[in-house]
Amino acid sequence: MAKNAKTFVCQSCGASAPRWAGKCEACGEWNTIVEEAPREVLPKGVSGGKGGRKIDFVDLRGQSAPPPRRSTTIGELDRVCGGGLVAGSAILVGGDPGIGKSTLLLQATALLAAKAACVYITGEESVDQVRLRAQRLALDTAPVQLASATNVRDIVASFESGTAPDIVVIDSIQTMYSDTVDSAPGTVTQVRTCAHELIRVAKKRGFTLFLVGHVTKEGTLAGPRVLEHMVDTVLYFEGDRGHQFRILRAVKNRFGPTDEIGVFEMTDAGLNEVLNPSALFLAERRGNVSGSCVFAGIEGTRPVLVEIQALVATSALGTPRRAVVGWEAARLNMVLAVLESRAGLAFAGHDIYLNVAGGLRINEPAADAAVAAALVSAMTGVPVPADAVVFGEIGLSGEVRAVAQRDLRLKEAAKLGFRQAWVPRPGRKSEKKAGAPDSSGEPKSTLALKDMGHVLDVVSQFSDATDAAKRRTSA
Ligand code: TYD
Ligand code: MG
Repeated sequence: MAKNAKTFVCQSCGASAPRWAGKCEACGEWNTIVEEAPREVLPKGVSGGKGGRKIDFVDLRGQSAPPPRRSTTIGELDRVCGGGLVAGSAILVGGDPGIGKSTLLLQATALLAAKAACVYITGEESVDQVRLRAQRLALDTAPVQLASATNVRDIVASFESGTAPDIVVIDSIQTMYSDTVDSAPGTVTQVRTCAHELIRVAKKRGFTLFLVGHVTKEGTLAGPRVLEHMVDTVLYFEGDRGHQFRILRAVKNRFGPTDEIGVFEMTDAGLNEVLNPSALFLAERRGNVSGSCVFAGIEGTRPVLVEIQALVATSALGTPRRAVVGWEAARLNMVLAVLESRAGLAFAGHDIYLNVAGGLRINEPAADAAVAAALVSAMTGVPVPADAVVFGEIGLSGEVRAVAQRDLRLKEAAKLGFRQAWVPRPGRKSEKKAGAPDSSGEPKSTLALKDMGHVLDVVSQFSDATDAAKRRTSA
């Protein structure tokens, strides 16, 4: 290949192609391939010369202490970071535009600035805009150093010498550019090069680096996905803008557990921590409505109770609608199929809507039984008792399987005033895993437990009504 030949890089997955194409062969996305300068162009400061130096090897066993943590004083943010910020680490905060990334990081830096040197570099907004936001949040007196810059060479040069700051926020990585690379800001090559340079200086000078990254569906901006393997921690800020709840989820963390969530509430005065998410997610629940069921879930290390809502309506369409918000559509279809073939319920000819109230996204199979209960309740018109929580995984033969962290789920439900729980029989495996702290002779929860061994046990809770419904559908 000629030395300056262009390459074509998919902006969605980062795969390179020899020529332009409408569809990326690697990930199947359309219109994501963009011409870029060859990747061999190394950024300044990265040696491209011949003959390397020998590296020193050490034993695996050593005297390294666990990294010290710096608390942000925002408990929910500390929690998803694994207990605080680690010096020299890079944290990517991804999320849809407008979800509140800038707000969160401005609030965090303003609080941190009391004890640490904080720098906030914005490439998206002007200094005045950030100042206005700080004023609105009543944080404008915090000693945060603010700059509007997009050239990574300048930014790196500012940190290479002199006293290094403790915390640096780059908002956002897609607006940064490096003049060593020949493509537009926001392309995979640019994003990767800029992040590489910034992370290198963060490790060298020992400051914590926050990178903000937008996720776009169109793939015109490089999604932060290409950065996930370069940074130490990846946090996603989720939630839809119609709700005031925002969920910060750790999807990768080299310094702590993943799948941990932090819950925030967006108010006029910025983001507020939500200390008891279950109470919040259940706040708008109305008792004695059919199609509603409370699921006792686990997010990270913390139990979270959420309401699952189902609606079953006669369909006017040839192919009935299946709409899901906050859960997997494939999983809903599986639960429906099990209810049809193992419990004899007929959902054909009905539109089905499933919603996880409050804007939370559930990934646990443990929600199967709660979804089934909500569906049967919606179908029969009989409410699930308002004081009941449900959890359990459903297998294809209709069996309800034990899930991990049973005691933790039950405890949270009891704490919030629930009186009964529809649960799978305790499995030996899950008991061993989850039981360690709880089986210490503490009195069992005050909940009345109803064992569910099979989906038929769930359906039989609505039995009179199911028989009537069956008679109706067969008539
Ligand atoms: P922002 O932090 O700018 O989002 P991002 O950086 O992720 O793009 O948040 C913008 C949204 O948050 C905007 O729609 C207004 C809303 N908002 C509030 O509701 N209250 C506030 O105090 C602030 C600062 C923003
Ligand atoms: Mg922003």
